[in-house]
Amino acid sequence: MEFNAPAGTNLFDKSRIVGKPTPRIDGPLKTTGTAPYAYERHDVAPNQAYGYVVGAAISKGRIVSMDLSEARSAPGVIAIVAAPETQPLGKARSNIAPLFGGDEIAHYHQAIACVVAETFEQARSAAGLIRTVYGREEGAFDLAAAAPAAGLAKGRGGKPDRKLRGDFEAAFAVAPVKLDAQYTTPDETHAMMEPHATIAAWHGDQLTLWTSNQMIDWAKSSMAQILDMKPENVRIDSPFIGGGFGGKLFIRSDAVMAALGAKAAGRPVKVTLQRPLVVNNTTHRHATIQRLRIGAERDGRITAIAHENWSGNLYGSEGEDGTLQTPKLYSGENRLTANYVAALDLPEGNAMRAPGEAVGHLALEAAMDELAELLDMDPVELRIRNEPQSVPGTPDKKFSDRNLVRCLRDGAERFGWSRRATKPGQVRDGRWLVGMGVAAGYRGGPVQKSGARVRLETDGRITVETDMTDIGTGSYTIIAQTAAETMGVPLEQVTVKLGDSRFPASAGSGGQWGAASSTAGTYAACVSLRRAIGEKLGFNGDTATFADSRIHLSNRTIPLTDAGSMAAEDQITFGEFKREYDVGTYAAHFCEVGVDVFTGETRIRRMLAVCDAGRILNPLSARSQVIGGMVMATGAALMEELAVDKRFGFFVNHDLAGYEVPVHADIPHQEVVFLETEDPIASPLKAKGVGELGICGPGAALANALYNATGVRVRDYPITLDKYL
Ligand code: MOS
Repeated sequence: MEFNAPAGTNLFDKSRIVGKPTPRIDGPLKTTGTAPYAYERHDVAPNQAYGYVVGAAISKGRIVSMDLSEARSAPGVIAIVAAPETQPLGKARSNIAPLFGGDEIAHYHQAIACVVAETFEQARSAAGLIRTVYGREEGAFDLAAAAPAAGLAKGRGGKPDRKLRGDFEAAFAVAPVKLDAQYTTPDETHAMMEPHATIAAWHGDQLTLWTSNQMIDWAKSSMAQILDMKPENVRIDSPFIGGGFGGKLFIRSDAVMAALGAKAAGRPVKVTLQRPLVVNNTTHRHATIQRLRIGAERDGRITAIAHENWSGNLYGSEGEDGTLQTPKLYSGENRLTANYVAALDLPEGNAMRAPGEAVGHLALEAAMDELAELLDMDPVELRIRNEPQSVPGTPDKKFSDRNLVRCLRDGAERFGWSRRATKPGQVRDGRWLVGMGVAAGYRGGPVQKSGARVRLETDGRITVETDMTDIGTGSYTIIAQTAAETMGVPLEQVTVKLGDSRFPASAGSGGQWGAASSTAGTYAACVSLRRAIGEKLGFNGDTATFADSRIHLSNRTIPLTDAGSMAAEDQITFGEFKREYDVGTYAAHFCEVGVDVFTGETRIRRMLAVCDAGRILNPLSARSQVIGGMVMATGAALMEELAVDKRFGFFVNHDLAGYEVPVHADIPHQEVVFLETEDPIASPLKAKGVGELGICGPGAALANALYNATGVRVRDYPITLDKYL
């Protein structure tokens, strides 16, 4: 079904089940520990052996020799798959370095072997007996040192990623008020609870992977590319996922090693990446250096804005684009954004929750705070004064629905913003210096093609099947709500089956497109089923009312069960009209902090997010997404940092002891408000997505609050207390 808004009304003009706060239907399975995660799926294949992945101990160079003899004869060992004995595997589109094979080492903890044994302990013990001799080469591991030589990144269509509108340099030169500031953000790891894990089994040339992955359809085609197989011979199954945050968008070495290990062992093999390998073997968020130059009139109107961003990656491939939100948030006729990438030999950088924007806001929204101070202007008012009418830099594009000013005003009112001291370092509460900060937030709402199959069972139950995943976000529940409402049955009458590549391909979980896309796909399949039922029973499925497990026609009602057993499959696609619009989500973030005047210890006192993200499908799970994003943004602002060993080129704190993330005690009070908006351009449900909006802005609001409290501006994240000294 092609969606062609804004052509009239649809079934969601009066929504009853969608939009209601609904506890997650998978909640009991999760909270009782009975939701089976990939590594625990003992029942899917008999006689599972254990694989243990060995990571390279150098960051760049070659394997000179690998002696497997002692390991091979260790107790319980069934097979060893070794990189030097394996041709380099194919590279899927999303992998930067090959995941396995050959003697070349591109990054630290690249997989070089997998030991398969009867038990995990035997596999781990034998792995320690592999003797590898390396030829180590020098590498580039320091972004700051490599940045001056960085080239322009590739943007859309392979063009250099530098966008200029008007004459930035000239306008900046004559602007009466100018800010020129540089911010840095460190490398970060996803730190999801469940590490990457896969069980693999072969039946002839058919490979099944029970794994933990956000994008089933990508995983299937990637695995086929990597192992040079036909995609139809690969099955991926991933019904429960213990967090992903972008770290599970792509096939990683757990899946590859399980598949190769199972082939070598001649029986199913299960592999999980031990925590250090999650950090150095898989992907991470790239560090950035960002320079902001903003020129304004004395009344606060921005006349020139430039955002330049440097990051690094293997082979100088794609980096982290911190500039993404800058063309969307503020007006200003003279603009420059540019994105540079340096070649680094650190592990692969790739997507982590709101890639680009999450770190971009840390720079842009701190810069706006600094500009407000130079202008002697309220930071909320400065943002409102620069609210654009059309998409800045893309004047032929309209915003589909944008209520950022309402978010800012509403938030300021609720938060008691008028009580903020305009001069920093003024407010004391005992030993605490207290401050308030604000930041705006923008994240795209890219709703995409997504498919589903819906079945009416003879007992009146509805079953939805789609390869959509639930990475802890609530997909099961919103898909059930959508089907219940569209088919007119109670929520309890709906079964949702997810994460299996045998189901119709969905948009998957990524880029905050999952919720809006997968519910739109479910809607499309339900509409097809209604039409099919109408054809069978002689009515128009589009105009009949489906409610209370009955079909209500003008002159009679029919029990839904009269249709018998029926199924329909469809997908949502989007018409050309969408190109005219920028479909985005917006937020205003507020934060109050205390800073210990003696020790520099930071304590958050309260946080508020006012969000504008279209129709909220399930306010309970949407709120959880936003507060989760706020927690993650707090981590980015205050504590998260992968420490780079600049001599040997790896992330040193590669575990949850050394990589600090926020805990409950760090986050005392969070409030989330959703504006009651609907975006008729976004999807048939008028919904967008909030999963990544929540991390866009709160870190900067926190940084700005810290400045307001202390009068010290720290531009290098995370803002740890040593940086106050
Ligand atoms: Mo998100 S970083 O696209 O999972």
